[in-house]
Amino acid sequence: MSKTARADWWKKSVIYQIYPKSFRDANGDGVGDIRGIIEKLPYLKDLGVGVAWLSPIFASPMIDNGYDTSDYTAVNPLFGTMADAEELFEEARKRDIRIVLDIALNHTSTQHPWFVNASAHGDKRDWYWWREGRCGAAPNNWQSIFGGPAWSQTDDGSFYLHLFDKSQADLNWENPAVRRAIHDAMRFWLDKGVGGFRLDVVTVISKEPDLRDVIDPRPAPLYRHIAGGPRLHEFLREMRREVFAHYDCVAIGEAPGVDPERASKLVDPADPMLDMIYHFDLVAMNPIIGGDWDRVAFKRIFSTWDKGIGPRGWNSVVVSNHDLGRISSRFGDGSPESAKMLLTLVLSQRATPFIYQGDELGMINAPFATLDEIDDVWAKTTYRLAREKGLSEADAFARTVAMTRDHARTPFQWNASANGGFSEASRTWLNVNPNHATLNAAAQTEDVNSVRAWAKHLIALREDPLWVFGAFEDLAPGDPDLFVYAREHQGRRAIVALNLRDEAKPLPAYVPAHAPLLRNVDGALDMLAPWEARIVGA
Ligand code: GLC
Repeated sequence: MSKTARADWWKKSVIYQIYPKSFRDANGDGVGDIRGIIEKLPYLKDLGVGVAWLSPIFASPMIDNGYDTSDYTAVNPLFGTMADAEELFEEARKRDIRIVLDIALNHTSTQHPWFVNASAHGDKRDWYWWREGRCGAAPNNWQSIFGGPAWSQTDDGSFYLHLFDKSQADLNWENPAVRRAIHDAMRFWLDKGVGGFRLDVVTVISKEPDLRDVIDPRPAPLYRHIAGGPRLHEFLREMRREVFAHYDCVAIGEAPGVDPERASKLVDPADPMLDMIYHFDLVAMNPIIGGDWDRVAFKRIFSTWDKGIGPRGWNSVVVSNHDLGRISSRFGDGSPESAKMLLTLVLSQRATPFIYQGDELGMINAPFATLDEIDDVWAKTTYRLAREKGLSEADAFARTVAMTRDHARTPFQWNASANGGFSEASRTWLNVNPNHATLNAAAQTEDVNSVRAWAKHLIALREDPLWVFGAFEDLAPGDPDLFVYAREHQGRRAIVALNLRDEAKPLPAYVPAHAPLLRNVDGALDMLAPWEARIVGA
């Protein structure tokens, strides 16, 4: 373990998120696996991504698909063996792709031996949050992010805290032994050569120990009330000192509940804690599919975060991930043009872009028709609570389909064959979207006009420092249809003009009408076609 000067490769890289369960099933059991990822490394290399972030691969009962860890230093047998993981790290290294692992460190599975010990009043009792009930009811009014009280009881009647599902018990970070155990787990993987971590909901690990009621638990998710707890900075500085400072690695915090001002402290190079965070302002914009959404507010998020974090700290752009509907179903119309326009937006910011698997093909939401096609624990809770409130089956199902995270989790569409080339099994853990017959990686790799070809081109463009480091300026923040911004670096300037509507709009006078560098559609230069993305200058 050597002390390495921290490089900034993660600023220049595009990060590609893999949801291992849905990427590629190499052993034919209907579930994606590590050998499947190894098989597809050449695909990632060809696309041009420098970092692959894997959603959790650690041992887990998979109630929340790995975000419920039962052993931080074991590979989930569903995904393969430790030897497979080591081979993946090695094969990725040969291709200059760094592997970032996702670690859910705010909570463990209730099947983790630590929790089993704690609930039996063993020596790890204090590793979790236990409280007495209030007259038999929960100790405080916190509502879990997935719905229902944030407290459940073990057999002896004790209440334990869980910000998420009742199978995900919150670790007590006040206890130094807990922190040491997580540091040890991180070092275990870094010593095997991984390039860093994505720290799941890291902004809520520190809690006010008195766990007071929140004023009004209803209107906002719990993390808005409790994120950025009193010892968060201390815990992160300690983690930096004990772990990250000793490796050439990146620490990316998932950061619900913080604004740019608080976030900028977390990524301040003068007082290092994390390298990047990803905020929830875009995550929280989850328009009902096909419904209208506030484009001006959407654009403001980009400027606010660019100004708030600026070039000193560093931003990320996460518009889509495994927790959200597909990007082109949310902010586009599912067409290849809208997918290209949205990829342009993601890939042309002063920030590290995150591409969620399948977005580079323009994959869209799934046509779920029955509840048993859905696996997502949050969606199932939503359905149950909606029924308990008296909603009809149809209304409860409609609500569930609108919010379920499974839209993003349907298997990757590799080709037009059965199961989209994802798996040779007779059944896959989630159905493959039937549109794989036409929308798939193989077809798009042949086609120079495909969404994938567009994504690859834009990723390559980021080799020019203008696109990585160039200053960002929104040229028309109040425009309700277009997002037009400049990027400027060492005297060079480029303009990106995006039409956020499915109807043509006149090209504004401040965008030069001369031959563009890139354009996702043909047609008159004095108009921006529906969902057009145009880059001028540079
Ligand atoms: C994060 C993950 C999400 C998970 C939750 C609880 O938000 O992205 O998938 O359910 O944390 O770990």
